[in-house]
Amino acid sequence: GLIGQVGQNPVAAPVSAPAVSREVTVLYGSQTGNSIGLSKKLGKKLEEQGLQVTLSSMGDFKPNGLKKIENLLIVVSTHGEGEPPDNAIPFHEFLNSKRAPKLDGLRYSVLALGDTSYEFFCQTGKDFDKRLQELGGTALVPRVDCDVDFDEPAATWMNDVLASLSSTVATAGAVTSEAITAAVSGEESEYNRTNPFKAEVLENLNLNGRGSDRETRHIELSLEGSNLDYEPGDSLGVFPENHPRLVDELIAAMGWNADEQVTVNKNGDQVSVYEALLRHYEITAVTKPVAEQLAKLSSGNELTALLANDSEFRNVMNSSDLLDVVQDYALKGIPAAQFLAVLRKIPARLYSIASSSKSFPDEVHLTVRTVRYEARGRQRYGVCSVHLAERIEAGDTLPVYIQHNPNFKLPENPDTPIIMVGPGTGVAPFRSFLGEREETGAEGKTWLFYGDQHFSTDFLYQTEWQRWLKDGVLTKMDVAFSRDTEQKVYVQHRMLEHSKELYQWLQDGASVYICGDEKKMAHDVHAALITILQQEGGLSSEQAVEYMTRLQQEKRYQRDVY
Ligand code: 2AM
Repeated sequence: GLIGQVGQNPVAAPVSAPAVSREVTVLYGSQTGNSIGLSKKLGKKLEEQGLQVTLSSMGDFKPNGLKKIENLLIVVSTHGEGEPPDNAIPFHEFLNSKRAPKLDGLRYSVLALGDTSYEFFCQTGKDFDKRLQELGGTALVPRVDCDVDFDEPAATWMNDVLASLSSTVATAGAVTSEAITAAVSGEESEYNRTNPFKAEVLENLNLNGRGSDRETRHIELSLEGSNLDYEPGDSLGVFPENHPRLVDELIAAMGWNADEQVTVNKNGDQVSVYEALLRHYEITAVTKPVAEQLAKLSSGNELTALLANDSEFRNVMNSSDLLDVVQDYALKGIPAAQFLAVLRKIPARLYSIASSSKSFPDEVHLTVRTVRYEARGRQRYGVCSVHLAERIEAGDTLPVYIQHNPNFKLPENPDTPIIMVGPGTGVAPFRSFLGEREETGAEGKTWLFYGDQHFSTDFLYQTEWQRWLKDGVLTKMDVAFSRDTEQKVYVQHRMLEHSKELYQWLQDGASVYICGDEKKMAHDVHAALITILQQEGGLSSEQAVEYMTRLQQEKRYQRDVY
């Protein structure tokens, strides 16, 4: 490369040596794996520019090395109510603590991933940006906040970062690290989020018994011919169709012609208004950027006033879909082509995969709870779950892709004991875990905590767990059926009942996995683990919290929560 030549021929050396380091650190904080994928892509591009790249999960990064870093790129998603992903929490806390060093020499930029349907959109990325600036860092290029459809803004940010770095840093010729290249290209399938595979549906069953309050579909899809591969803990992205009734009602409310042709993408592809609303656009949640655009398109309506009051806006939109907004804010009159052009592309829904590809080669299974409820006198439908429950049968196809999740993985050592907590559809990945352990002959002990409303109708995959218990693939199972007894019993109550043994498993090196509802269940299960550590290990509450943090850092405490 250039630098090598300069070194061999002092005559040709530039007058001033490059003042800026060629070393770039890329840190990612990822819950679902998007950030890791983007970081690897970024790392590869930086190396092609001759930069020296250190790529690391925030969870593995030693913050005391921060002071030495000159170029820092952060790719981070936001979770729940504006919280960092699990593996970003310690670094986020460190930066925001008094221990954080001055970072005067630091040049940095942040790529924030998020979803405009949430109030605290890209909050974690914003936090990092603000804090790095406060500590003295200088932005290489401004932070970019991405909505669910992140490909374009992320690519623009990467190109800006590359341009900014290569204009200030003396770069050598192309040196590509094999590690990163392999991680990016691998043996990749041609199918991904932007080019989903049309998977044939092999099976679609209701797992709940007659009389249950719930409906949970077990769906089997064929991946044959796709070259798609997944591991236990990964998710499947599914692109749903909107409810045809909602589409009809929306078209009627707006007075559009359902057959009018509209452009749906940058290639200029045209489909009918009906088709566009059915398959291409989000017509349930109305995000703030969409509402702002709609307000602009309609003259002098109350939507503009509502937008001025953020909390009131959130409040209203919590119980509104696009049809409500159109009716309540008199949006009739906006031509279809203009209206549709401001809508968000329909986002894929992610489901934790319920099968092991070793047990079911070329197949992927899902466990999907149907979401139906009434609001403001109208029946509301979970977009994807109701599509799957009502309008998909064996023989149909669904556009899908694999979303790898590096944060929910079986221990590398097959002898490591695992504790799995998965009430309701949270049990899905554990069917995958146990299938995998069965197929690979892993010897580590396994313990499943499962719960749902009623034993007789809601015990998902009951016979499979029982077979695994008999075969020894599953060492222990404890169940909590919350509505069979007067007093509610939840999985965490069962954990507390077995606190001594559970503590012993932890001391023996077990990894703990939690999957399912975040706000209620996962939070309470976490609290139960803290109680168990105090009770059985004699730890103070601070020590118990530290114990859990250490487990998390050692990847022995992993969550897939939603
Ligand atoms: P419930 O609906 O009777 O309250 C799967 O959804 C199971 O999780 C159900 O049995 C549900 O009980 C239960 N559940 C609800 N809230 C929970 C919480 N905070 N912790 C653990 N389980 C909970």
